[in-house]
Amino acid sequence: MMFLPQLLAKTAQGEKLAVLTCYDASFARILARAGVDILLVGDSLGMTVQGHDTTLAVSLDQMVYHTEAVARGADKAFIMADLPFGSYQESPQQAFASAVRLLSAGANMVKLEGGAVMCDTVAFLVARGVPVCAHLGLLPQSVNASGYRMQAKDEAGARQLLDDALALQAAGAQMLLLEAIPAALARKASEQLSIPTIGIGAGPDCSAQVLVLHDILGLTEQPPSFAKNFMLGAAGIEAAVRAYVEAVKAGEFPVA
Ligand code: KIV
Repeated sequence: MMFLPQLLAKTAQGEKLAVLTCYDASFARILARAGVDILLVGDSLGMTVQGHDTTLAVSLDQMVYHTEAVARGADKAFIMADLPFGSYQESPQQAFASAVRLLSAGANMVKLEGGAVMCDTVAFLVARGVPVCAHLGLLPQSVNASGYRMQAKDEAGARQLLDDALALQAAGAQMLLLEAIPAALARKASEQLSIPTIGIGAGPDCSAQVLVLHDILGLTEQPPSFAKNFMLGAAGIEAAVRAYVEAVKAGEFPVA
C-alpha cells in the first residue's frame, strides 16, 4: 500500500510526481505498472466515460463504483478520488459522509474544488483522518459561472488565488491542484506553499503534473491545448504512459 507520507517524502526530495486520471481496473493495472504516482479517479469521467459536456452530472455512487474498480486493479497504488458536484458543498458533515464512501471504496485522498470558502470543510475532513487535495484555478464544477477558460490572469485574480491557496494550506490541505492558470502564478504559488502543487495547464514549475488519461492516449476529439498525445511514436498504451511518466520526472513535460 502507498500512503500519503511516502508520497510526500518523494516530493520533499525534489522528485516530480506523475499523475493521471484513471477510471477502471484495466487501466489502473497499466498505470501502476508504468510508475504513475497518483491514480486520480476524476469526475472528468462524466466526459471521458459517460459522454457529458461537463462533470456536473456525476454522482457520488458513480464515483464510488469507479474508485472500487481502480482499487481492484491497483491495490498498491495511491488513489485520489474527486468528491463530485453536490456531494460536499452543503456542510463539512456532508463532505465527511461522502469522503467516507470514497475512502471505503479504496481512495487514499479526496479532492474538492473551491477556495477559502472550503476551509472549514477541509479542516473538518483532515481532523477526521481524510487527506485532502484542494483544487483552484479553473473549477470544472463551477463551469456555469466561469466557462472553460484560463483563470487568474489579472493581478486581482492572482492575489485571490494565492490568498485562497495559503488559506487552504493553513486549513490542512496536504496537496493543491492548480488548473489552467498562468505558469508564473503557478510557480509563485508553488514557491510560497510548503505542500506539493499538482499542475494541469499551469506550466512546468509545480511539484507534480496531471493529465486526463484519454488526452495522453489520443482519444479526445478536441483535447485542451496544454495536453500532449503520448501515443504518437509509442509502441502501445503502457509505453505511452511510461513516456509520460518519464517526461514529467525529467522535467521535460510540460515545456516552459
Ligand atoms: O477530474 C479530473 O480529471 C480533474 C483534472 C483536473 C485532472 O480533476
